[in-house]
Amino acid sequence: MYAQVVKSEGSKTRDEMTPEELAFQDRIDRGEKIEPKEWMPEGYRKTLIRQIGQHAHSEIVGQLPEGNWITRAPTLERKAILLAKVQDEAGHGLYLYSAAETLGVSRDELMELLHAGKMKYSSIFNYPTLTWADMGAVGWLVDGAAIMNQVPLQRTSYGPYSRAMIRICKEESFHQRQGYAIMMKMAQGTPAQKRMAQDALNRLWYPSLMMFGPSDKDSVHSAQSMAWKIKMNTNDELRQKFVDQTVPQAEYLGLTVPDPDLKWNEEKGGYDFSEPDWSEFYDVLAGNGPCNKDRLGARVKAWEDGAWFRDALVVHAEKAAARRAVAAE
Ligand SMILES: [Fe+2]
Ligand SMILES: [Fe+2]
Repeated sequence: MYAQVVKSEGSKTRDEMTPEELAFQDRIDRGEKIEPKEWMPEGYRKTLIRQIGQHAHSEIVGQLPEGNWITRAPTLERKAILLAKVQDEAGHGLYLYSAAETLGVSRDELMELLHAGKMKYSSIFNYPTLTWADMGAVGWLVDGAAIMNQVPLQRTSYGPYSRAMIRICKEESFHQRQGYAIMMKMAQGTPAQKRMAQDALNRLWYPSLMMFGPSDKDSVHSAQSMAWKIKMNTNDELRQKFVDQTVPQAEYLGLTVPDPDLKWNEEKGGYDFSEPDWSEFYDVLAGNGPCNKDRLGARVKAWEDGAWFRDALVVHAEKAAARRAVAAE
């Protein structure tokens, strides 16, 4: 989950490229990885910082809606699983901040941009998690959509990002399965539990479809990112794949996807489905979702509460360096 608001200019034709840019594009076309100290166009570096930074922020902010349920998990086993899942997301954020740092931006700068509202995270996390069934639907749908986005990014052109994605994807598939396992339990439970599962699907279906970003016809920024292999598929391609994969899973659970127009289309070999309400998408992106203020407020508070510890680490490092200097005299 990331990249939904990444903007870049239209891609250059070969005639418009400088010799350096041509050589760079040829390397990418050959499938070579670009590594941190190597030459890269400024636009490539900037687009990657935004994309990886947003992705990192999404992992970290994404801990909040599920962290909310750790103390209320119904059994010790469920609690241990959810705790492990939420900790994984912290790890994903850290790999990705490290990958972004190799592009010459500091973690502090990225945090400042997030806290000032100048960098986004995935809008899905601005929706509340109201019941335990939401833990199932989030794992199943939100991590499911994240996998759909991230599996192709394992082949992205920037080495550190690609390697982070390989590791992250392994954990994401566990997240998706734990979510589906919760949904299964709820769907096979009492009528009230089944209603909770259906209600969670009803609320999270369209926000999950929004995770792939605006429709291709409104997303004019991806040509350059595709040429650079920073983006591997269009938003609509990924959304279609997600729907095709998820509908049979909902059927298996005995739940109904909240879309009266959902229909198998034999000719295209995929489902026809209703688009999300894009005005809601842009409204949430603009800061007006149900939880935007809470989410950002929680992150800013955590950052401020941790200031003393970061300061103490710096002082400790300085004292240790001074001691080493004295010992070396
Ligand atoms: Fe993650
Ligand atoms: Fe995840």
